[in-house]
Amino acid sequence: ETVEWDADAAEKGGYEHYMRKEIHEQPTALRQTLSGRIDLDRGDVDLDLSFPQGYLESLEEIQLVACGTSYYASQYAATLLEEFADVRATVEIASEYEFDGGRDPWRTLVIAVTQSGETADTLGAIRRAAGAGARTLAVTNTLGSTVTRETNDTLFIRAGPEIGVAATKTFASQVTTLALLAVAVGRGRGSLSTADARDVLENVRGLPGAVQQVLDDEARVTEVANECLGSDAFFFVGRRFGYPVALEGALKLKEISYDHAEGFAAGELKHGPLALVTEKTPVLAVLTAGADGSETVNNLAEAQTRGAPAIGVVSDGAETGSLDCALEVPRVGVFEPLVANVYFQLFAYHVANLKDRSIDKPRNLAKSVTVE
Ligand code: AGP
Repeated sequence: ETVEWDADAAEKGGYEHYMRKEIHEQPTALRQTLSGRIDLDRGDVDLDLSFPQGYLESLEEIQLVACGTSYYASQYAATLLEEFADVRATVEIASEYEFDGGRDPWRTLVIAVTQSGETADTLGAIRRAAGAGARTLAVTNTLGSTVTRETNDTLFIRAGPEIGVAATKTFASQVTTLALLAVAVGRGRGSLSTADARDVLENVRGLPGAVQQVLDDEARVTEVANECLGSDAFFFVGRRFGYPVALEGALKLKEISYDHAEGFAAGELKHGPLALVTEKTPVLAVLTAGADGSETVNNLAEAQTRGAPAIGVVSDGAETGSLDCALEVPRVGVFEPLVANVYFQLFAYHVANLKDRSIDKPRNLAKSVTVE
């Protein structure tokens, strides 16, 4: 008797797709990201970075460069940096980036955020920054990758290998790593108090458990995905930290389901996109803490008036109003949109799976894009 041995199936550890496996690995990935880096007593973090003495205090601007999902993680991080570290933080799509660092380029820190460390657009951007004299930092998942050899410093996100073309656990670990960096920069610049840093770090420490609670709610997401199958298009909306998550939710869905999906700043719906809204275009909204949910509810109501099904992610125990479906996330402050994103990942996965798409290897896409 022979036993059939399928190496690929074994690698997937019982999951039908790497993507679902990697979505479910997020609590573990986040624990690895955080391991040994948080010092709650001091209200500080240990990231093993070699900033020269006085560098953070004299820093004028942080520029993040990235593509795709890493770009959305960078958008989330830029707001965290501005909030915790009182430093100007900008984000640019790597392929559009030109360094403009003023008279003293060294006072601009340019951060390349790239899961693979091999994305040609991002490498090109960081080379332009380094060439102009900026200090550079890589935030990556991949040891020994090209980006780590091109930058002054590297910060690893430690999410573990990601095989699915759609980035999932690496988004969560990127935002979390950059949140730690924002604390480090805030402490270094004296703009974040010990008490405030502790509050932030308590919320960060709550992330693995919070994500696990969303994963435990997967059956509901499968139901919602099933109800949405005949839709013409999907719109994702959010404010503040909910905005990059809306963009990421839409990217994930279009990437693996091939359905039309767009993310908008919630306030922008009425400035044009509302013309596309019908009873066949579900609107998925981030309504949690960190996303000014109460204002977005009003924008959502305008879509509901046009018959659009409204699916909202809300803070645990919050008012759910007239939503067609309310999905809850545990209370972790400004990180709630990051946890809400896990619902969007599951939603994209189940829509694509019900349509029998090639989830781990979507058409026309590669895991790492090594051409400009
Ligand atoms: C995400 O699902 C995509 N596959 C893609 O947008 C990706 O995030 C982008 O190509 C950047 O890759 P990197 O993080 O390896 O640089």
